[in-house]
Amino acid sequence: MKRPAALNLTLLLARIALVTAGCSASSAPEPSLGPSTPTPIPSTGGSRGTGTGTGSGTGTVAGPGTGTGGAGSISTVAASDLPCDVASVLQSRCGDCHGTTPKFGAPMSLTVAADFGKRTKDASTTVGQAVIARINDDAHPMPQAPAARLTSSERATLTTWINAGAKPGTCAVATGSGSGAGSGGTSGTTGSTDTVAMLDPDVTCYDLTAHDPASKKSPYHVPTTPDLYHCFSFAPPWGADKVHMVDWKPLIDNDKVIHHWILYNDAGTVTDGADVDCSGAHPSAQMVTGWAPGGQGSALPKNVGQDVSGKGFTLEIHYNNTSTTAQPDASGVKVCVTKKLRPNEAGIHWLGTEGIALPAGGKATGVCKPTTQVPVTIISSTPHMHLLGRHLTTSITRANGKADMLIDEPFDFASQVSYTTPQVINPGDTLTTTCEYGGAAFYGQGTKQEMCYNFVLAYPNGGLASGSFLRKNGCTGL
Ligand code: HEC
Repeated sequence: MKRPAALNLTLLLARIALVTAGCSASSAPEPSLGPSTPTPIPSTGGSRGTGTGTGSGTGTVAGPGTGTGGAGSISTVAASDLPCDVASVLQSRCGDCHGTTPKFGAPMSLTVAADFGKRTKDASTTVGQAVIARINDDAHPMPQAPAARLTSSERATLTTWINAGAKPGTCAVATGSGSGAGSGGTSGTTGSTDTVAMLDPDVTCYDLTAHDPASKKSPYHVPTTPDLYHCFSFAPPWGADKVHMVDWKPLIDNDKVIHHWILYNDAGTVTDGADVDCSGAHPSAQMVTGWAPGGQGSALPKNVGQDVSGKGFTLEIHYNNTSTTAQPDASGVKVCVTKKLRPNEAGIHWLGTEGIALPAGGKATGVCKPTTQVPVTIISSTPHMHLLGRHLTTSITRANGKADMLIDEPFDFASQVSYTTPQVINPGDTLTTTCEYGGAAFYGQGTKQEMCYNFVLAYPNGGLASGSFLRKNGCTGL
């Protein structure tokens, strides 16, 4: 399976180059830190220190470029007084959220040595000690899932430095300079935001976003409640017609308060425009997709459309407003559909098990033996457990005995996302999904009870089913 690309220094430099070059970038793309379909990061800005801005290719389809060219000087970590090895870990593994201006609900910056001597938000300890605790915390690790845990050497780098007093050091990383007056950008082509599918005249995109209870056009005001889960309901905006979803894209408005979101397709009718505090338990709904920081949208292959024939959608947003006043937010998802149905219909299939009655340390396992006799193409996997969920794998046992891994990822209830997991399942292959928990676990629909599902998007729709009496696309062994 495709492991989400980790943010690295090269990426960071590419991003900075993109910003400093005088191109018409409306927003620098987030590096793909975690979830689903890492979209290639356009790096068409002026290269470091040369200042030849070319201004192509990010944002929407831009008109003739009006870029004035970058000044050509880049100083990446010049302002930081961190030792090099520490700076490198913090920038690549924490910097997306704990940067100079904290984002995605993170309570503090981790950019200069002095940050580590401050008290934590609840004042119980120093930030430095909290860092050591959280990078070793299996239940709530930093960085949070779906990002990979720190390696033991990254952990050692931070721990040794913090325990020695978190003293300033020096790091002369990449302070390239250059002159050069980049000429105007050429007109932008398809950028990181509008995909080919979105430009297809037969495709219509709808924004499902957080909004004020009184008006879909006004933002929601996020209260200061920590770890708030809030749900917004939408009737299918395209009406009763059958459509295929062909693409989706996260719309992230206020990145200081949004932590992550999940989009559900509901089996029951929903009240369009309604919103309510919610808990993360959605008994009758299936996950369409999820976003966490770094996640990008994901277009389906040209010949495939996703079945979204549920009766409505619930957009569940997890907020962390660490400020002292309510903050506006209109984040959500752009859902792109077509009435020209694609030749292949993909659907969400339920792998996993309902048989969960485990002592601490136990594992739940469900084997899917598809009854269909056609090859099934898997596009993506979206693990779903509840609060105790820690890790999910789905392995494939081929008819000839050979094993392949579909997905093997840490899980955090607070950051559920989709992963691109391309595989073809042939008749005779089976899929074994295994869930691990942080304590004794029992099946149920409440957040305090547990689940073990991998929502697999695959075609043909219904291709992974084992005749389950529980649901149409069930392949959970029951
Ligand atoms: C994707 C965003 C993201 C990344 C990446 C990330 N964090 Fe966090 N961090 C958060 C959020 C959100 C919170 C607040 C919620 C919580 O405590 O889980 C947080 C909280 C923390 C806290 C607790 C602070 C307190 O006041 O209690 C520490 C310590 C921390 N992060 C350290 C790190 C370190 C070290 C890294 C990198 C190794 C890192 N984080 C990477 C988002 C992130």
